[in-house]
Amino acid sequence: MTDTGNRILGAPADRDAPVDRVGAPAGRVDGPLKVAGAARYPSDVTLPGLVHAALVRATITAGTITRIDTARAQAAPGVLAVITHENAPALAEAPMTQLGRSPQFPLTDNRVLYHRQPVAVVVARTREQATSAARLVELSYSESQAILGIGNPLAPVVADQWGLDTVRGDAAAALASAEVVYDQQFSIAAETNNPLGLFATVAHWQGGRLTVHESTQWPTQARATLAAFFSVPEENVRVLVPYLGGGFGAGLRTWPHTVMAVLAARMVNRPVKLVLTRPQMFTAIGHRPQTAQRLRLAATREGRLLAIDHEATSTLAAEEAHIEPVTSRTPAMYACENLATRDRQVRLSIPPPGAMRAPGTVEGNFAVESALDELSYQLGVDPVELRLRNYAEVDPRSGRPWSSNALRECYRAGAGRFGWAGRTPEIGSMREGNQLIGYGMAGVTFGQNSPACRVTISVSRDGTALVRSAATDIGTGTYTIAAQLAAGLLGLRLGQVRVEIGDSDLPPAPASGGSQLATAFGGAIHAGASHLVQAFLDLVAGDEQSPLRGRQRADVTVTGGRIHPAGDPSSGETYRDILTRHGLDELVVDGAIDPQPGESATAPAGAFAAVFAEVRIDRDLGVLRVARLVSVIDGGRVLNHKTARSQVTGAAVMAIGMTLLEETVFDPGTGRIANATFGDYLIPVNADVPDIDVVFAGEPDRFSPIGAKGLGEVGIVGVPAAIANAVYHATGRRIRSLPITLDKLL
Ligand code: MOS
Repeated sequence: MTDTGNRILGAPADRDAPVDRVGAPAGRVDGPLKVAGAARYPSDVTLPGLVHAALVRATITAGTITRIDTARAQAAPGVLAVITHENAPALAEAPMTQLGRSPQFPLTDNRVLYHRQPVAVVVARTREQATSAARLVELSYSESQAILGIGNPLAPVVADQWGLDTVRGDAAAALASAEVVYDQQFSIAAETNNPLGLFATVAHWQGGRLTVHESTQWPTQARATLAAFFSVPEENVRVLVPYLGGGFGAGLRTWPHTVMAVLAARMVNRPVKLVLTRPQMFTAIGHRPQTAQRLRLAATREGRLLAIDHEATSTLAAEEAHIEPVTSRTPAMYACENLATRDRQVRLSIPPPGAMRAPGTVEGNFAVESALDELSYQLGVDPVELRLRNYAEVDPRSGRPWSSNALRECYRAGAGRFGWAGRTPEIGSMREGNQLIGYGMAGVTFGQNSPACRVTISVSRDGTALVRSAATDIGTGTYTIAAQLAAGLLGLRLGQVRVEIGDSDLPPAPASGGSQLATAFGGAIHAGASHLVQAFLDLVAGDEQSPLRGRQRADVTVTGGRIHPAGDPSSGETYRDILTRHGLDELVVDGAIDPQPGESATAPAGAFAAVFAEVRIDRDLGVLRVARLVSVIDGGRVLNHKTARSQVTGAAVMAIGMTLLEETVFDPGTGRIANATFGDYLIPVNADVPDIDVVFAGEPDRFSPIGAKGLGEVGIVGVPAAIANAVYHATGRRIRSLPITLDKLL
């Protein structure tokens, strides 16, 4: 291993550590259930009397439905109901959330706003009957002009709807007078989230109470949305998602198909199941919008940045609220006095975009980190050195110190592991046989949300603990890190902690999204565990028989299920003994974490990263392969080195898809998605994925009680620029549009 100093919390030394220690690379506690097929995903749910729904979708892109004839569908075998805007009851308005309004009202009126908009739902005894009858619904339309294309002058423009645009100093003046000026445009294709698990809803009304088994990353919010739509109190709605087959942002909102399934269940008075098909997933659960960016930089000849002007446009659906905050991270990236950022959106006749891993950040980073690479060639400065010359020692937005920032260490460690020193800077100078070899790198500044989260924690007389919260595990390891944290804080073994999540009836939790759940849920567990030990001390405060009588929280620690004075693990007494003597089955406490006040002297840092990529390009055929990736992440205190690594590795694979393969193709004439299948929409397979070397740098973050930073998204960011920069180094081709397909290299 390269000398990276003791700030690298690398995995190898931890391999044999006890799995219940925080940070240890424990296998997933839910792994055996998944391997055995016993983990119940929303699409697995079946109930007595369950019937099935299928969607009818519009075949025009814009206009109105002039006639809807359901007679043939109604008469088809097994059909219980055909629900359209003509017979659907009116719904109330759903709440606005930080992620936009959820969702476009389904079945409200006869308007069609995008191709494949769901316009009716058929309920039948079997899925096959419902699907078959859905084809018999006859629709007549009056078509109007669809608005397509990101540059369409007819498209309504939405400017800074969310107040994210930034001005610092005077970028225009600096650009007008600088020695070195850079001005380029970038474009990134729309992409679609393709979680393996097809999104599903199983809705069941019992009187005025609704239970929904739902593909969601946010049960607490799904409950609020459905309660609002159906005008019932939140406590009458229960959303369950113990397991989810991937989300990546698609499950952050409650989409029209869910509302339609819930409505159908109410109308037929039976439990209803709706499972989207793969092609339906392309229009029903959001997509990363198409973006266009213009980036201008002003710099000195030595490479000191004098100004950054970053402008982005992203596509948005009609009547939808979603923000792709492309430029919002730019003000935090480099020490630069003059800066202006603007995000614009254009409304098109497209299905609603939504969140897809590192929304906005990954696109904005591609532009900024490509531009710095271009500048490095223009100025003859090594790309890493150029970044260090503009290093943000403090948060450039506020001037406050970061809560922690190991980006410099990420650069140093990454360069070392990658062998950056072996790079010869001249374009096309590194070859092997017929292959052109390129090295490229990029830096990443991410960020951290700190939403509120609530848990309850209990310890029972059998000595086991139970952690409960409406948090979700979307396949990322939430169950495992929660169990590890609780075990570590309560002095128990991993197997003695049960974690119950994925249920909106449990204490409210934020989304498993925005890289925020591990820190929020972990922070609440941290508080809850401390309260629990205190509750035991309170119980024995006047207990003559307890060796812990009169002890303060600060004097005791817990190991082996025994509370004892620090440094004396053989004294004190066990949870079991205390509960037994007091005739209690269990002790239950609450734990909470709340947003930190923005006025603190410290700027929450979030994750940082450095990415290094090697590409190999066949000189004659243009075939491009990513040969190696090194990703060094400042993730603060890593809660589980195995799941953390998997998270970052998976993100890097997704980034390879974004950079080289993925593109949601909208037919320019009709807006129809031309490649809405796994056969046509390319995502990376094993042969596309090189050796990915993931290591962690940094130290426990001051902003989080558990010292952790969110890792869900940071690993996708920086990879596109690192690859594009490597392509330039190999070929001299500067590709500013993603994906980098073969035709762009020939
Ligand atoms: Mo995400 S876009 O953080 O689920």
